[in-house]
Amino acid sequence: MSTPTGHDSPADDFGAVALTDPALLADPYAGYGRLRETEPVAPARNMDGSHLWIVTRHDDVRTVLDDPRFANDPLSVPGIETDKRADLLIAMGLPAEYVPYIADTVLDTDPPDHTRLRKLVSRAFTVRRVGELRPRVEQITDDLLDALPAHAEADGTVDLVEHFAYPLPITVICEMVGVPEADRPLWRRWGADLVQSQSPERMGTALVEMVDHIGAMVEQRRAEPGDDLLDALISVGDEDGDRLTGKELITLVLTLVIAGHETTANLIGNGTLALLSHPDQLALLRRDAGTAPRAVHELMRWCGPILGTRPRWATEDVTLGGKLIRRGEPVMAMIVGANRDPRRFEDPDRLDIARAYETRGEQHTGFGHGMHYCLGAALARQEGEVAFTRLFERYPELSLAVAEHELEWLPRPGLRRLIRLPVHLGR
Ligand code: HEM
Repeated sequence: MSTPTGHDSPADDFGAVALTDPALLADPYAGYGRLRETEPVAPARNMDGSHLWIVTRHDDVRTVLDDPRFANDPLSVPGIETDKRADLLIAMGLPAEYVPYIADTVLDTDPPDHTRLRKLVSRAFTVRRVGELRPRVEQITDDLLDALPAHAEADGTVDLVEHFAYPLPITVICEMVGVPEADRPLWRRWGADLVQSQSPERMGTALVEMVDHIGAMVEQRRAEPGDDLLDALISVGDEDGDRLTGKELITLVLTLVIAGHETTANLIGNGTLALLSHPDQLALLRRDAGTAPRAVHELMRWCGPILGTRPRWATEDVTLGGKLIRRGEPVMAMIVGANRDPRRFEDPDRLDIARAYETRGEQHTGFGHGMHYCLGAALARQEGEVAFTRLFERYPELSLAVAEHELEWLPRPGLRRLIRLPVHLGR
């Protein structure tokens, strides 16, 4: 068997844990929780049959995400010269000239390239810019909530995933980047094709159309500057006059859509379900909207949308949790294990929105850790705060339309995503 880079794995016992095991998919908290206690660094098999290590303890997860011996770009590993992920994209039907826009993002780079990119982007994507967007996030949220009754199905139920959780983040990203109103339906369609359709053909077409569209937007903004995030990204520079290239700008905007859409949507979907199934916690939030920032931290920990990060690649032999990870082998940091680790959190399986969280350097790993820590965390948290408070203010009698055990989750390792969330809106 070979690793995702196509290199033979030396370990014989790889594949002991299948990430597609129905029991792990059905209850990742229990499944990865057991592994955390019995085999915290475990050899596993991914969806495509390739081998990887999975790491489930809080401290080990942080090591994998922050130790320079683990790289994001497999080509940073001495001896690896081809990256099979590009071939996969081409096999999905993406024209070769478009592959770098997808395969070469900030998440795929290591220092010094990552340091340079992250420094430039951080100068444009600032906490202040996110804070200034809050009134618009509230308006977009209220508009979507007002429209919910019109989406009721014949039996009176409304699917909150389709009509609230998914449209909110893509509309917010459009607002932030500065996409004109007239183009937003296009972006919503691309967003849905990219992350909801599950069809490689539609994903490929959406990517090609988006790259071309963003390229044209960049040209137009160079000619007529405004004051949105895209203008800031175009004009940002460092002391040495370094700037983002045209290709980097397109890749970045595309990355923001991909990284910020499905994740935030699933925080809203999973968090709404968690609050509905814990009425005592919902009552606390409704009594005092000031608890919303803490509640979002806790929901990120308890039912965050990312169960495991993309693989890191060992650039040398590393011993972790008593296991030898050989150079070139991929390792997946299982956030789902870290966030329920009793070594870090008291009574970790209990949802407790009053749990004490530091405002910076939060203890959960839902937004990652280290240099690749989520660039959009402040934006995602803000969207979560607004979504949960406004939803339950507007529809105080909101209730689940089916029994919780009847809800379906997308059977995909690494992700926690409800397929639908049917609710009754109440009055
Ligand atoms: C990175 C989670 C929303 C942009 C990450 C990482 C995680 C994460 C776990 C690190 C991945 C790794 O190390 O392999 C989330 C979650 C979100 C969310 C759970 C919503 C609840 C957003 C939003 C944006 C965004 C709204 C932007 C609009 C990014 C970018 C990176 C990233 C650009 C890469 C940073 C780098 O490589 O330096 N996110 N994210 N994310 N996120 Fe988010």
